[in-house]
Amino acid sequence: MIILGIETSCDETSAAILKNSHVLSNTVCTHLEHTEFGGVVPEIASKNHEKLILNIIRKSIKDANISITDIDAIAVTYGPGLIGSLLVGLNFAKGLSIGLNVPIIGINHLEGHLLSSFINKDRIDYPHLCMLVSGGHTQIVFVDEKDYKIIANTVDDAAGEAFDKGARILGLKYPGGPEIEKLSINGNRNKYSFTIPRVKKTPNNFSFSGIKTALLYKYKNMSKDDINNNLHHLAASYQEVILDTLFDKLIFSLKMYKVNFVTIVGGVSANKRFREKANEISENYNINIKFPDFKFCTDNAAMIAMAGYIKYKEKSISSLDLIPSSNLVLCR
Ligand code: KG4
Ligand code: ZN
Repeated sequence: MIILGIETSCDETSAAILKNSHVLSNTVCTHLEHTEFGGVVPEIASKNHEKLILNIIRKSIKDANISITDIDAIAVTYGPGLIGSLLVGLNFAKGLSIGLNVPIIGINHLEGHLLSSFINKDRIDYPHLCMLVSGGHTQIVFVDEKDYKIIANTVDDAAGEAFDKGARILGLKYPGGPEIEKLSINGNRNKYSFTIPRVKKTPNNFSFSGIKTALLYKYKNMSKDDINNNLHHLAASYQEVILDTLFDKLIFSLKMYKVNFVTIVGGVSANKRFREKANEISENYNINIKFPDFKFCTDNAAMIAMAGYIKYKEKSISSLDLIPSSNLVLCR
């Protein structure tokens, strides 16, 4: 079973070829133009997708060493994401599906992330908890064979957004996560104290906007010299409280859902300190925590093709009426 995956929901144009759950190729092109604007500019993203998509798909087919007629199905992200960006991938997939006479499978981008830990594996471990930590979402999902149950969500910003907004406060580039991670390497994470936010009425949920505001006030009250000498400590302390907040809620969820297998996925899961802390939690709570390979953490089409493979096996095929959606909810 050969699947072409197409991902164009935000600022990565990506195509991948999978043979069942195994990756034959995965081509990702991140649009660097957004860096100077401090965030993704939708118009630029759509134009870039249009410019890149044909060659990215051609390259993924060439790298996989297959011919275009070997493709059995096309999996494509139809949401959540930027409508103009989604349309590029979706319309391309529809045209190709008609041309090759193969089915099209619409994929929820979040489901792609959720399955990204199982790429190149022959089975999915059920039941488990998945902590999905990306630029637009921060959720804990109880995953079993039949259902995805969202058991925790953010009430304001996503963790990736907290990294991006924090980086902007500190004068760093977009995307902020990798910049904060780099700066933190030689920083003292205990130098500045930030408090893990609590959501009073729903203690299972995340909140990140308060820590971003706390960072803003700390930064504003520092002199130029102070900032120059301590920026790495500030970044390290800020990164630490974001990660502590994530694990605080994960542990809360584990008390309600007694599973011993957890996956941590999405762009933020590329963070090395995140993985280091997960090892400690894993030992202390006797749970198995699994991260995707680094290349499958941030947006990529391999995870979309993986979700397509699972859906194809379940005979869940889409129609050519499929339309993009900016705020799709994760469901089975
Ligand atoms: O999953 P993703 O690529 O796109 C969305 O679906 O949103 O996640 C992007 C987010 C951005 O907020 C980015 O700053 C964050 O993931 N991110 C990181 C790291 N790499 C990407 N955050 C922390 N540490 C990283 N190494
Ligand atoms: Zn994503």
